[in-house]
Amino acid sequence: MVAALLLVLGATVILRADLLPDKKFLLLPPVNFTIKVTGLAQVLLNWEPNPDQEQRNVNLEYQVKIHAPQEDDYETKNTESKRITILHKGFSASVQTILWNDRSLLESSWVSAELKAPPGSPRTSIVNLTCITNTVASDGTHFRPYQVSLHCTWLVGEEAPEDTQYFFYYRYGSWTEECQEYSKDPLERNIACWFPRTFINSKGREWLVVHVNGSSKYVTIKPFDQLFALHSIDRVNPPMNITAVTEGTHLSIQWEKPVSAFPIHCFDYEVKIYNIRKGYFQTEKMNANTFISIIDDVSKYSVQVRAAVSSVCRTVGLWSEWSQPIYVGNDEQKPSAEWLLIVLMATICFALLIFSLLCRICHLWTKLFPPVPAPKSNIKDLFVSTNYEKTCSSETEIEVISYVEEPGFEILQDSVF
Ligand SMILES: *[C@@H]1O[C@H](CO)[C@@H](O)[C@H](O)[C@H]1NC(C)=O
Ligand SMILES: *[C@@H]1O[C@H](CO)[C@@H](O)[C@H](O)[C@H]1NC(C)=O
Ligand SMILES: *[C@@H]1O[C@H](CO)[C@@H](O)[C@H](O)[C@H]1NC(C)=O
Repeated sequence: MVAALLLVLGATVILRADLLPDKKFLLLPPVNFTIKVTGLAQVLLNWEPNPDQEQRNVNLEYQVKIHAPQEDDYETKNTESKRITILHKGFSASVQTILWNDRSLLESSWVSAELKAPPGSPRTSIVNLTCITNTVASDGTHFRPYQVSLHCTWLVGEEAPEDTQYFFYYRYGSWTEECQEYSKDPLERNIACWFPRTFINSKGREWLVVHVNGSSKYVTIKPFDQLFALHSIDRVNPPMNITAVTEGTHLSIQWEKPVSAFPIHCFDYEVKIYNIRKGYFQTEKMNANTFISIIDDVSKYSVQVRAAVSSVCRTVGLWSEWSQPIYVGNDEQKPSAEWLLIVLMATICFALLIFSLLCRICHLWTKLFPPVPAPKSNIKDLFVSTNYEKTCSSETEIEVISYVEEPGFEILQDSVF
C-alpha cells in the first residue's frame, strides 16, 4: 500500500520534472469536434483527443465554452457532452485540451463548431408560449397511478401569413410527442394544444422541452423552442375532503393531500378563515393536515385551504387554487335577538316622538293664539277670550275663527314661535 503510494508520488514527481522544465511540451487541441442534434432542443458535443499529443498517458482534460445561445463554460474528462438548450437561435461552442499541473494550468488552442440558426422569416414564429401541467388520478386502465396532462397556448407571429400552420411537439426525457388536439383561431391556425396524458413524470427533475415549427406557402416559418422547469408550470390540485366543524369557540379544520404523485409529507398548506359578519380574514401557513382556530361563536365563517409542493420535495412552485369554500358557524340566532331589541327601541322612540309632537301641537296653539287684547266693543273677540281656557280641541275650533278674522296678527306670532 505504502509502496504503491510512493510509486504514485514518484510518478508525479517524474511527470513534473518532465513537464515543467521542458518548454517544448505542447498541449494540442482536440480533433474532430462536432455538434449533433440528438433530440428536440438537445445537442451532443463530441471530440477526440489529438492523435499527435505526446504524453498521452497524462490526465488530459477538456474545457468547453458555450458561446450561444447562452454563455457557459465547464471542464470535463469525457470526450463528449450532452446539452439541453433552445436551438432556434443557433448554437456554437469551443473546446480546448487542458492539463492541471500543480497550481499552473496548461492549455491548448481552441477548436470551435457551430449549428446555424434554422432559416425563417423574422416574426413568423409563435410568441407568448405558456404551458401548465396538471396531475389527475389514473382511471386504472394504465400502469401509472397518476397521469399528467399538458396544456399550452401561444400567439401567432406578427408577420405570419394567413395560411400559416403551426405544429407543436414536446419532449420529456427520451419521449417526444406531437400534439393531437389543437385549438384554432378564426383563420384555422393552431394556437393551443391539449395533451390529456403525457409521459411527463411530475416528480422528475428534467426539463420539459417544447418545439413549435410551422409552414406557409409564402414564407419560411421560424421554429421556436422553450424549456420549462416542471415546478414552475405545475398547477397543483387543491387539498381534498376538507371538513370544518365548530364546537363553541373552537373551529377545527381537516383535509387530505391533493391528488398528486408527491407523498403526504411533501406539501405546505395555507388555510383562509373568513369572518363573513365582520368582513375580515385570517390566513395561516402550515404543513400539518389539521388546524384549530379560536372563533367568535356568533359569526358565520367560510373556510378555504390551498396547497403547494414544499421545498422538502422540489423547488418551490405555485400555490394551488383555493378549495371551494365551506361555511360554518351561524349568524342567525343571536342577531335575531338583537333585531328584536332594535325594533323595540325604535317603537318606543317612535311612540315618544308622536307623544311629544302631540303635546307640542297643543302647546303651539296656545302660544300661537294667546288671548288677544282687543277693543271690548268687538263681540267676537270677547267670545274668543272667554273660550281661551278651554281644551285643545275646542280651542282649535275657535282659532279657526280668529284666523279668518285677523290674518295679519298670526304672521307676527309665527316669528315668535
Ligand atoms: C477524425 O475524422 C476523420 C474523418 O472523419 C477520421 O478519418 C479520423 O480518424 C478522425 N480522427 C479521430 C482521432 O477519430
Ligand atoms: C406577449 O408578450 C409580450 C412580451 O413578453 C408582452 O409585452 C405582450 O403584452 C404579450 N401579449 C399578450 C397578448 O399577452
Ligand atoms: C417540425 O419539427 C418536427 C420535429 O423536429 C419535424 O419532424 C417536422 O418535420 C418539422 N416540421 C416542419 C414543417 O418544419
